[in-house]
Amino acid sequence: MTDRTDPSRRRFLTGALAAGGAVAATKVAAQAGDPAITDISQQPWSQYLGPGVDAAPYGVPSPHEAHVVRRNVEWLTADTVSSINFTPLHELDGIITPNGLCFERHHGGVAEVDPGMYRLMINGLVDTPLVFTLEDLMRFPRENHAYFLECAANTGMEWRGAQLNGCQFTHGMIHNVMYTGIPLRILLEQAGVKTNGKWILPEGADAAGMTRSIPMEKALDDCLVAFKMNGEALRPEQGYPVRLVVPGWEGNMWVKWLRRIEVGDEPWHHREETSKYTDLLENGQARRFTWEMDAKSVITNPSPQAPLTHGPGPTVLTGVAWSGRGTIPRVDVTIDGGKNWHMARMSGPSFTKSMHRFYFEFEWDGSPLLLQSRAHDSTGYVQPTKDMLREIRGENSIYHNNGIQTWYVNEQGVAENVEIS
Ligand code: MTE
Ligand code: CO
Repeated sequence: MTDRTDPSRRRFLTGALAAGGAVAATKVAAQAGDPAITDISQQPWSQYLGPGVDAAPYGVPSPHEAHVVRRNVEWLTADTVSSINFTPLHELDGIITPNGLCFERHHGGVAEVDPGMYRLMINGLVDTPLVFTLEDLMRFPRENHAYFLECAANTGMEWRGAQLNGCQFTHGMIHNVMYTGIPLRILLEQAGVKTNGKWILPEGADAAGMTRSIPMEKALDDCLVAFKMNGEALRPEQGYPVRLVVPGWEGNMWVKWLRRIEVGDEPWHHREETSKYTDLLENGQARRFTWEMDAKSVITNPSPQAPLTHGPGPTVLTGVAWSGRGTIPRVDVTIDGGKNWHMARMSGPSFTKSMHRFYFEFEWDGSPLLLQSRAHDSTGYVQPTKDMLREIRGENSIYHNNGIQTWYVNEQGVAENVEIS
Protein backbone atom coordinates (compact mmCIF):
# COMPACT_ATOMS: atom_id res chain seq x y z
CA MET A 1 0.00 0.00 0.00
CA THR A 2 1.38 3.43 -0.92
CA ASP A 3 2.17 5.59 2.05
CA ARG A 4 1.45 9.08 0.79
CA THR A 5 3.25 10.61 3.75
CA ASP A 6 6.52 8.73 3.18
CA PRO A 7 9.13 11.53 3.40
CA SER A 8 11.56 9.81 1.00
CA ARG A 9 8.89 9.81 -1.71
CA ARG A 10 8.16 13.47 -1.05
CA ARG A 11 11.86 14.39 -1.17
CA PHE A 12 12.10 12.62 -4.51
CA LEU A 13 9.22 14.66 -5.86
CA THR A 14 10.56 18.02 -4.74
CA GLY A 15 14.04 16.97 -5.99
CA ALA A 16 12.64 16.09 -9.38
CA LEU A 17 10.89 19.42 -9.53
CA ALA A 18 14.08 21.33 -8.76
CA ALA A 19 16.06 19.31 -11.34
CA GLY A 20 13.44 20.01 -14.00
CA GLY A 21 14.25 23.70 -13.88
CA ALA A 22 12.45 26.71 -12.53
CA VAL A 23 8.66 26.53 -12.50
CA ALA A 24 7.14 29.90 -13.26
CA ALA A 25 5.07 31.07 -10.35
CA THR A 26 1.72 30.99 -12.12
CA LYS A 27 2.29 28.26 -14.75
CA VAL A 28 1.75 24.59 -14.03
CA ALA A 29 2.63 22.30 -16.95
CA ALA A 30 4.69 19.20 -17.80
CA GLN A 31 8.27 19.70 -19.01
CA ALA A 32 9.40 19.26 -22.62
CA GLY A 33 11.15 15.89 -23.14
CA ASP A 34 8.91 14.15 -20.61
CA PRO A 35 8.90 10.44 -21.64
CA ALA A 36 5.20 10.29 -20.75
CA ILE A 37 4.73 12.57 -23.79
CA THR A 38 7.43 11.25 -26.13
CA ASP A 39 8.01 7.55 -25.34
CA ILE A 40 5.07 5.43 -26.55
CA SER A 41 6.85 2.20 -25.48
CA GLN A 42 6.13 3.19 -21.89
CA GLN A 43 2.38 3.36 -22.60
CA PRO A 44 1.22 -0.23 -23.19
CA TRP A 45 -2.43 0.78 -22.70
CA SER A 46 -2.46 2.29 -26.18
CA GLN A 47 -0.84 -0.74 -27.85
CA TYR A 48 -3.04 -3.66 -26.80
CA LEU A 49 -6.77 -4.24 -26.76
CA GLY A 50 -7.95 -3.93 -23.18
CA PRO A 51 -10.45 -6.11 -21.33
CA GLY A 52 -13.99 -5.99 -22.71
CA VAL A 53 -17.23 -5.12 -20.99
CA ASP A 54 -17.54 -8.50 -19.28
CA ALA A 55 -14.46 -7.93 -17.11
CA ALA A 56 -16.33 -6.22 -14.27
CA PRO A 57 -20.13 -6.65 -14.14
CA TYR A 58 -19.99 -4.52 -11.00
CA GLY A 59 -17.29 -1.89 -11.50
CA VAL A 60 -14.45 -1.30 -9.05
CA PRO A 61 -11.93 1.56 -8.79
CA SER A 62 -8.63 1.56 -10.69
CA PRO A 63 -5.95 -0.62 -9.02
CA HIS A 64 -3.92 2.61 -8.76
CA GLU A 65 -6.49 3.85 -6.26
CA ALA A 66 -6.06 0.85 -3.95
CA HIS A 67 -4.87 3.14 -1.13
CA VAL A 68 -8.27 4.91 -1.08
CA VAL A 69 -9.92 2.87 1.65
CA ARG A 70 -11.71 3.14 4.95
CA ARG A 71 -9.22 2.78 7.78
CA ASN A 72 -9.49 2.24 11.50
CA VAL A 73 -7.45 3.33 14.49
CA GLU A 74 -6.26 0.17 16.19
CA TRP A 75 -6.51 1.38 19.77
CA LEU A 76 -10.06 2.67 19.16
CA THR A 77 -11.33 -0.64 17.86
CA ALA A 78 -11.34 -3.09 20.75
CA ASP A 79 -12.90 -5.95 18.79
CA THR A 80 -14.42 -6.52 15.39
CA VAL A 81 -18.11 -6.43 16.29
CA SER A 82 -18.15 -3.12 18.17
CA SER A 83 -16.15 -1.32 15.56
CA ILE A 84 -15.52 1.94 13.75
CA ASN A 85 -13.70 2.84 10.58
CA PHE A 86 -13.22 6.20 8.91
CA THR A 87 -14.03 7.81 5.56
CA PRO A 88 -10.87 8.82 3.62
CA LEU A 89 -11.94 12.47 3.31
CA HIS A 90 -8.51 13.53 2.01
CA GLU A 91 -8.96 11.33 -1.09
CA LEU A 92 -12.43 12.61 -2.04
CA ASP A 93 -13.75 15.67 -3.83
CA GLY A 94 -17.17 17.14 -4.47
CA ILE A 95 -19.82 16.43 -1.84
CA ILE A 96 -20.97 12.80 -2.30
CA THR A 97 -19.29 9.94 -0.44
CA PRO A 98 -18.99 6.83 -2.63
CA ASN A 99 -20.89 3.91 -1.11
CA GLY A 100 -17.83 1.72 -0.56
CA LEU A 101 -16.03 4.48 1.35
CA CYS A 102 -18.77 5.47 3.82
CA PHE A 103 -17.40 5.06 7.35
CA GLU A 104 -19.02 2.33 9.43
CA ARG A 105 -20.02 2.21 13.06
CA HIS A 106 -21.48 -1.04 14.34
CA HIS A 107 -22.33 -1.98 17.93
CA GLY A 108 -23.00 -5.62 17.07
CA GLY A 109 -21.35 -6.14 13.69
CA VAL A 110 -23.08 -6.03 10.30
CA ALA A 111 -26.51 -7.72 10.20
CA GLU A 112 -26.97 -9.69 6.97
CA VAL A 113 -30.73 -9.30 6.59
CA ASP A 114 -32.65 -11.45 4.07
CA PRO A 115 -34.86 -8.96 2.18
CA GLY A 116 -37.59 -11.62 1.77
CA MET A 117 -37.79 -11.97 5.55
CA TYR A 118 -37.59 -8.23 6.16
CA ARG A 119 -40.48 -6.66 8.09
CA LEU A 120 -40.99 -3.16 9.49
CA MET A 121 -43.44 -2.90 12.40
CA ILE A 122 -45.10 0.27 13.67
CA ASN A 123 -46.70 -0.25 17.08
CA GLY A 124 -47.39 1.44 20.43
CA LEU A 125 -49.64 4.48 20.65
CA VAL A 126 -51.19 4.10 17.18
CA ASP A 127 -54.75 3.41 16.01
CA THR A 128 -53.66 0.46 13.83
CA PRO A 129 -50.38 -1.35 14.44
CA LEU A 130 -48.90 -2.17 11.02
CA VAL A 131 -46.25 -4.48 9.58
CA PHE A 132 -44.76 -3.76 6.14
CA THR A 133 -42.76 -6.00 3.83
CA LEU A 134 -40.17 -4.42 1.54
CA GLU A 135 -42.65 -4.74 -1.34
CA ASP A 136 -45.28 -2.89 0.69
CA LEU A 137 -42.81 -0.06 1.29
CA MET A 138 -42.14 0.29 -2.45
CA ARG A 139 -45.80 1.34 -2.95
CA PHE A 140 -45.48 4.53 -0.90
CA PRO A 141 -44.37 7.88 -2.39
CA ARG A 142 -40.62 8.35 -2.09
CA GLU A 143 -38.23 11.32 -2.05
CA ASN A 144 -34.55 11.98 -2.76
CA HIS A 145 -32.33 14.02 -0.45
CA ALA A 146 -28.59 14.35 0.13
CA TYR A 147 -27.75 14.42 3.84
CA PHE A 148 -24.60 14.09 5.92
CA LEU A 149 -24.46 11.53 8.72
CA GLU A 150 -21.92 12.46 11.39
CA CYS A 151 -21.28 10.27 14.44
CA ALA A 152 -21.52 12.42 17.57
CA ALA A 153 -18.08 11.03 18.51
CA ASN A 154 -16.43 12.42 15.35
CA THR A 155 -13.36 14.46 16.46
CA GLY A 156 -14.03 13.18 19.99
CA MET A 157 -10.40 12.11 20.52
CA GLU A 158 -9.24 15.74 20.11
CA TRP A 159 -10.85 17.28 23.23
CA ARG A 160 -7.62 17.28 25.22
CA GLY A 161 -5.33 18.32 22.40
CA ALA A 162 -4.19 17.38 18.91
CA GLN A 163 -4.01 13.62 18.72
CA LEU A 164 -4.75 11.75 15.47
CA ASN A 165 -2.64 12.60 12.44
CA GLY A 166 -5.02 12.82 9.49
CA CYS A 167 -8.45 14.22 8.68
CA GLN A 168 -9.59 10.65 7.95
CA PHE A 169 -9.10 9.91 11.66
CA THR A 170 -9.98 13.29 13.19
CA HIS A 171 -13.03 13.99 10.98
CA GLY A 172 -13.80 10.80 9.04
CA MET A 173 -16.82 9.61 11.03
CA ILE A 174 -19.00 11.34 8.46
CA HIS A 175 -20.48 10.50 5.10
CA ASN A 176 -22.74 12.38 2.71
CA VAL A 177 -25.15 10.34 0.65
CA MET A 178 -28.14 10.86 -1.66
CA TYR A 179 -30.93 8.82 -0.05
CA THR A 180 -34.13 7.56 -1.59
CA GLY A 181 -36.77 6.89 1.01
CA ILE A 182 -40.33 7.30 2.23
CA PRO A 183 -41.09 10.24 4.50
CA LEU A 184 -41.62 8.64 7.93
CA ARG A 185 -44.60 10.97 8.32
CA ILE A 186 -46.49 9.03 5.61
CA LEU A 187 -46.02 5.66 7.37
CA LEU A 188 -46.97 7.14 10.76
CA GLU A 189 -50.11 8.64 9.21
CA GLN A 190 -51.05 5.18 7.90
CA ALA A 191 -50.84 3.77 11.42
CA GLY A 192 -52.59 6.82 12.92
CA VAL A 193 -50.63 8.31 15.83
CA LYS A 194 -52.76 8.71 18.96
CA THR A 195 -52.93 12.23 20.46
CA ASN A 196 -50.61 11.22 23.32
CA GLY A 197 -48.03 9.79 20.90
CA LYS A 198 -45.18 12.27 21.39
CA TRP A 199 -42.05 10.15 20.82
CA ILE A 200 -40.85 7.33 18.60
CA LEU A 201 -38.41 4.53 19.38
CA PRO A 202 -36.76 3.15 16.24
CA GLU A 203 -35.16 -0.27 16.78
CA GLY A 204 -32.51 -2.09 14.74
CA ALA A 205 -32.62 -5.78 13.77
CA ASP A 206 -28.88 -6.29 14.44
CA ALA A 207 -27.53 -8.14 17.47
CA ALA A 208 -27.17 -4.75 19.22
CA GLY A 209 -30.90 -4.07 18.76
CA MET A 210 -30.09 -0.37 18.81
CA THR A 211 -32.79 2.02 20.02
CA ARG A 212 -33.07 5.80 20.41
CA SER A 213 -35.93 8.11 21.49
CA ILE A 214 -36.84 10.72 18.87
CA PRO A 215 -39.45 13.44 19.43
CA MET A 216 -42.55 13.23 17.23
CA GLU A 217 -41.97 16.71 15.73
CA LYS A 218 -38.73 15.47 14.17
CA ALA A 219 -40.31 12.18 13.05
CA LEU A 220 -43.06 14.12 11.24
CA ASP A 221 -40.67 16.76 9.88
CA ASP A 222 -37.91 15.35 7.64
CA CYS A 223 -37.06 11.77 8.72
CA LEU A 224 -36.91 9.19 5.93
CA VAL A 225 -37.29 5.42 5.89
CA ALA A 226 -34.53 4.93 3.31
CA PHE A 227 -33.70 1.95 1.11
CA LYS A 228 -31.36 3.43 -1.51
CA MET A 229 -28.05 5.26 -1.17
CA ASN A 230 -26.55 7.10 -4.15
CA GLY A 231 -29.08 5.32 -6.34
CA GLU A 232 -28.42 1.70 -5.38
CA ALA A 233 -29.60 -0.50 -2.52
CA LEU A 234 -28.16 0.38 0.89
CA ARG A 235 -24.93 -1.49 1.56
CA PRO A 236 -25.15 -4.15 4.32
CA GLU A 237 -22.79 -1.96 6.40
CA GLN A 238 -25.21 0.96 6.10
CA GLY A 239 -28.32 -0.97 7.17
CA TYR A 240 -29.55 -3.02 4.19
CA PRO A 241 -32.37 -3.19 3.39
CA VAL A 242 -33.78 -0.21 5.35
CA ARG A 243 -32.37 2.46 7.64
CA LEU A 244 -33.80 5.51 9.34
CA VAL A 245 -32.48 8.88 8.11
CA VAL A 246 -32.61 11.65 10.74
CA PRO A 247 -31.29 14.72 8.87
CA GLY A 248 -28.85 16.96 10.75
CA TRP A 249 -29.02 14.86 13.94
CA GLU A 250 -26.27 12.72 15.44
CA GLY A 251 -25.49 9.51 13.56
CA ASN A 252 -26.41 7.23 16.46
CA MET A 253 -30.11 8.03 15.90
CA TRP A 254 -29.99 6.83 12.26
CA VAL A 255 -30.99 3.28 13.16
CA LYS A 256 -29.76 0.71 10.63
CA TRP A 257 -31.54 -2.56 9.73
CA LEU A 258 -34.68 -0.77 10.96
CA ARG A 259 -37.27 -3.35 12.07
CA ARG A 260 -39.63 -1.56 14.43
CA ILE A 261 -40.87 1.91 15.33
CA GLU A 262 -42.73 2.18 18.61
CA VAL A 263 -44.81 5.26 19.37
CA GLY A 264 -44.82 6.38 23.02
CA ASP A 265 -45.73 9.32 25.23
CA GLU A 266 -42.26 9.97 26.71
CA PRO A 267 -38.60 9.23 25.96
CA TRP A 268 -37.38 5.74 26.92
CA HIS A 269 -33.98 6.75 28.30
CA HIS A 270 -32.25 3.69 26.88
CA ARG A 271 -28.50 3.10 27.02
CA GLU A 272 -27.59 5.13 23.93
CA GLU A 273 -29.16 8.31 25.36
CA THR A 274 -28.05 8.01 29.00
CA SER A 275 -24.68 6.33 29.60
CA LYS A 276 -23.70 7.17 25.99
CA TYR A 277 -24.33 10.21 23.79
CA THR A 278 -24.56 12.65 26.68
CA ASP A 279 -21.84 15.22 27.37
CA LEU A 280 -20.32 15.22 30.85
CA LEU A 281 -19.59 18.80 31.91
CA GLU A 282 -16.96 20.13 34.35
CA ASN A 283 -19.56 20.42 37.19
CA GLY A 284 -20.49 16.74 36.95
CA GLN A 285 -23.79 17.38 35.21
CA ALA A 286 -24.36 16.01 31.75
CA ARG A 287 -26.03 17.54 28.74
CA ARG A 288 -28.65 15.14 27.36
CA PHE A 289 -30.60 15.10 24.10
CA THR A 290 -27.91 16.99 22.19
CA TRP A 291 -29.31 15.83 18.89
CA GLU A 292 -28.35 18.49 16.34
CA MET A 293 -24.88 18.50 14.84
CA ASP A 294 -23.40 22.00 14.99
CA ALA A 295 -21.70 23.65 12.00
CA LYS A 296 -18.23 22.30 11.35
CA SER A 297 -15.56 22.24 8.66
CA VAL A 298 -12.17 20.72 7.96
CA ILE A 299 -9.46 21.25 5.37
CA THR A 300 -8.97 17.90 3.65
CA ASN A 301 -6.07 18.93 1.38
CA PRO A 302 -3.39 19.58 2.33
CA SER A 303 -3.59 17.55 5.54
CA PRO A 304 -1.32 15.00 7.28
CA GLN A 305 -2.23 12.13 4.93
CA ALA A 306 -2.17 14.44 1.90
CA PRO A 307 1.00 16.54 2.11
CA LEU A 308 1.97 19.10 -0.53
CA THR A 309 4.09 17.20 -3.05
CA HIS A 310 5.00 20.20 -5.20
CA GLY A 311 7.23 23.16 -4.51
CA PRO A 312 6.25 26.80 -4.09
CA GLY A 313 3.71 28.21 -6.53
CA PRO A 314 0.04 27.69 -7.34
CA THR A 315 -1.58 25.61 -4.62
CA VAL A 316 -5.12 24.34 -4.19
CA LEU A 317 -6.54 24.08 -0.70
CA THR A 318 -9.89 22.32 -0.30
CA GLY A 319 -12.20 21.03 2.39
CA VAL A 320 -15.74 20.26 3.48
CA ALA A 321 -18.26 21.96 5.75
CA TRP A 322 -21.69 21.03 7.07
CA SER A 323 -24.37 22.00 9.57
CA GLY A 324 -27.26 20.10 11.13
CA ARG A 325 -29.27 23.32 11.07
CA GLY A 326 -29.21 24.26 7.40
CA THR A 327 -26.79 25.17 4.63
CA ILE A 328 -23.24 26.59 4.64
CA PRO A 329 -23.25 29.90 2.75
CA ARG A 330 -19.67 30.75 3.75
CA VAL A 331 -16.37 29.27 4.89
CA ASP A 332 -13.33 31.34 5.87
CA VAL A 333 -9.81 30.00 5.62
CA THR A 334 -6.47 31.18 6.97
CA ILE A 335 -2.99 30.00 5.94
CA ASP A 336 -1.17 31.94 8.67
CA GLY A 337 -2.86 30.67 11.84
CA GLY A 338 -5.61 33.29 11.89
CA LYS A 339 -3.69 36.52 11.22
CA ASN A 340 -5.52 36.90 7.92
CA TRP A 341 -8.81 35.26 6.97
CA HIS A 342 -10.00 34.81 3.38
CA MET A 343 -13.41 33.85 2.08
CA ALA A 344 -13.20 30.42 0.46
CA ARG A 345 -14.89 29.67 -2.85
CA MET A 346 -17.92 27.39 -2.44
CA SER A 347 -18.49 24.95 -5.30
CA GLY A 348 -21.19 22.35 -5.81
CA PRO A 349 -24.80 22.02 -4.70
CA SER A 350 -25.81 23.62 -1.42
CA PHE A 351 -28.43 21.33 0.12
CA THR A 352 -29.72 21.72 3.66
CA LYS A 353 -28.06 19.37 6.20
CA SER A 354 -25.66 18.18 3.52
CA MET A 355 -21.92 18.48 2.99
CA HIS A 356 -20.58 21.54 1.19
CA ARG A 357 -17.28 21.78 -0.71
CA PHE A 358 -14.94 24.78 -0.52
CA TYR A 359 -11.70 25.74 -2.28
CA PHE A 360 -9.02 28.35 -1.75
CA GLU A 361 -6.36 28.77 -4.42
CA PHE A 362 -3.20 30.58 -3.37
CA GLU A 363 0.41 31.11 -4.33
CA TRP A 364 2.52 29.17 -1.78
CA ASP A 365 5.78 30.98 -1.07
CA GLY A 366 7.34 27.85 0.41
CA SER A 367 7.26 29.02 4.02
CA PRO A 368 5.44 27.03 6.76
CA LEU A 369 1.65 27.29 6.86
CA LEU A 370 -0.90 27.14 9.67
CA LEU A 371 -4.15 26.16 7.98
CA GLN A 372 -7.61 26.55 9.48
CA SER A 373 -11.17 26.73 8.18
CA ARG A 374 -14.22 28.27 9.86
CA ALA A 375 -17.77 27.49 8.74
CA HIS A 376 -20.74 29.87 8.89
CA ASP A 377 -24.17 28.25 8.65
CA SER A 378 -27.44 29.65 7.34
CA THR A 379 -28.64 30.47 10.88
CA GLY A 380 -25.66 32.83 11.34
CA TYR A 381 -23.83 30.43 13.70
CA VAL A 382 -20.03 30.51 13.32
CA GLN A 383 -17.83 27.46 14.03
CA PRO A 384 -16.03 28.06 17.37
CA THR A 385 -12.41 27.43 18.34
CA LYS A 386 -11.65 24.35 20.44
CA ASP A 387 -10.74 26.61 23.37
CA MET A 388 -14.15 28.31 23.18
CA LEU A 389 -15.79 24.86 23.40
CA ARG A 390 -13.59 23.78 26.33
CA GLU A 391 -14.48 26.95 28.25
CA ILE A 392 -18.14 25.95 28.24
CA ARG A 393 -17.97 22.15 28.24
CA GLY A 394 -14.67 21.33 29.95
CA GLU A 395 -12.57 18.42 28.73
CA ASN A 396 -14.63 15.41 29.85
CA SER A 397 -16.69 15.34 26.69
CA ILE A 398 -16.31 12.88 23.86
CA TYR A 399 -19.18 14.00 21.70
CA HIS A 400 -19.98 17.12 19.67
CA ASN A 401 -16.49 18.52 19.15
CA ASN A 402 -16.99 20.94 16.25
CA GLY A 403 -14.00 23.17 17.04
CA ILE A 404 -11.72 24.67 14.39
CA GLN A 405 -8.99 22.25 13.21
CA THR A 406 -5.39 23.37 12.56
CA TRP A 407 -2.84 21.73 10.25
CA TYR A 408 0.82 22.82 10.31
CA VAL A 409 2.55 22.45 6.94
CA ASN A 410 6.36 22.72 6.93
CA GLU A 411 8.70 23.93 4.15
CA GLN A 412 8.79 20.42 2.69
CA GLY A 413 5.01 20.27 2.48
CA VAL A 414 4.62 17.73 5.31
CA ALA A 415 1.43 18.38 7.31
CA GLU A 416 0.75 17.69 10.96
CA ASN A 417 -2.18 17.95 13.40
CA VAL A 418 -1.49 20.81 15.85
CA GLU A 419 -3.34 23.25 18.05
CA ILE A 420 -2.64 26.95 18.42
CA SER A 421 -4.20 29.32 20.91
N1 MTE B 1 -28.03 1.15 14.00
C1 MTE B 1 -27.95 -0.12 14.44
N2 MTE B 1 -29.00 -0.93 14.29
N3 MTE B 1 -26.81 -0.58 15.03
C2 MTE B 1 -25.71 0.22 15.21
O1 MTE B 1 -24.69 -0.24 15.73
N4 MTE B 1 -24.75 2.48 14.96
C3 MTE B 1 -25.16 3.90 15.02
C4 MTE B 1 -26.08 4.26 13.85
N5 MTE B 1 -27.12 3.26 13.69
C5 MTE B 1 -25.77 1.58 14.77
C6 MTE B 1 -26.97 1.99 14.13
C7 MTE B 1 -24.06 4.85 15.05
S1 MTE B 1 -23.30 5.15 16.55
C8 MTE B 1 -23.74 5.61 13.96
S2 MTE B 1 -22.59 6.84 14.06
C9 MTE B 1 -24.34 5.35 12.64
O2 MTE B 1 -25.31 4.31 12.67
C10 MTE B 1 -23.26 4.96 11.66
O3 MTE B 1 -23.79 4.76 10.39
P1 MTE B 1 -22.88 4.15 9.24
O4 MTE B 1 -22.38 2.81 9.69
O5 MTE B 1 -23.72 4.15 8.02
O6 MTE B 1 -21.70 5.08 9.08
CO1 CO C 1 -21.97 6.94 16.23
